Amino acid sequence: MGVVIAASILSADASNLAFDMKKAVAAGSDWIHFDVMDGHFANNLTYGIPVLSSCKKALPDAFFDVHLMVDKPQNFIKHFADAGADMITIHYESMTDAAKTISHIKAMGKKAGISIKPDTPVSVLYPFFDTADMFLIMTVEPGFGGQEFDGRSPGKIKTLSNKLQERGSKALIEVDGGINADTAKVVRDAGADVLVSGSFLFGADDIKAAVATLKH
Ligand code: DX5
Ligand code: ZN
Repeated sequence: MGVVIAASILSADASNLAFDMKKAVAAGSDWIHFDVMDGHFANNLTYGIPVLSSCKKALPDAFFDVHLMVDKPQNFIKHFADAGADMITIHYESMTDAAKTISHIKAMGKKAGISIKPDTPVSVLYPFFDTADMFLIMTVEPGFGGQEFDGRSPGKIKTLSNKLQERGSKALIEVDGGINADTAKVVRDAGADVLVSGSFLFGADDIKAAVATLKH
């Protein structure tokens, strides 16, 4: 399987989400990345359940990769699952019993991911090797598109990739933040399977060429 590209609609035109999502998919994006922020866990506010529900209705065949940057994500799992999430990723640091919340996501029939912020060591993820479908290494501080890639990330990705391989795990490694032509190569070489990209894709003059650049 080649690398998966998840287009982050945080950098799309919020008044034209359906148009921009269709453009991203037509350009070769594999997933739609949906960033939910609550103003507590992350210092920004975005969109939530009704917007996801409308987006899923507009693109019923798209894979919605929902990234919950919220405290107490356990309170929202059922709502996001019902609204059309295909993958739900929670944060290790988000005031939750992560193991229990992952079980909850899977019980709803959805894929479950767990994420860490740039300052969190990768070793906190090891207890979830048998349960999580995806591990998201944040390569910027959660909050905003267009930030600079954290140089510590490739080492974390490589360590995680080696550990997963030792375990014979098929779990995916996703990276999110500051992904462009240069950093995409670095994270692919380190072992990333899913690349989230917002400003690089939606800011490109030729989004199709931009997606192709991230894949190769
Ligand atoms: C940041 C979000 C990212 C964001 C990435 O907190 O989780 O998904 O959209 O944006 P870029 O690709 O512009 O760094
Ligand atoms: Zn994200």
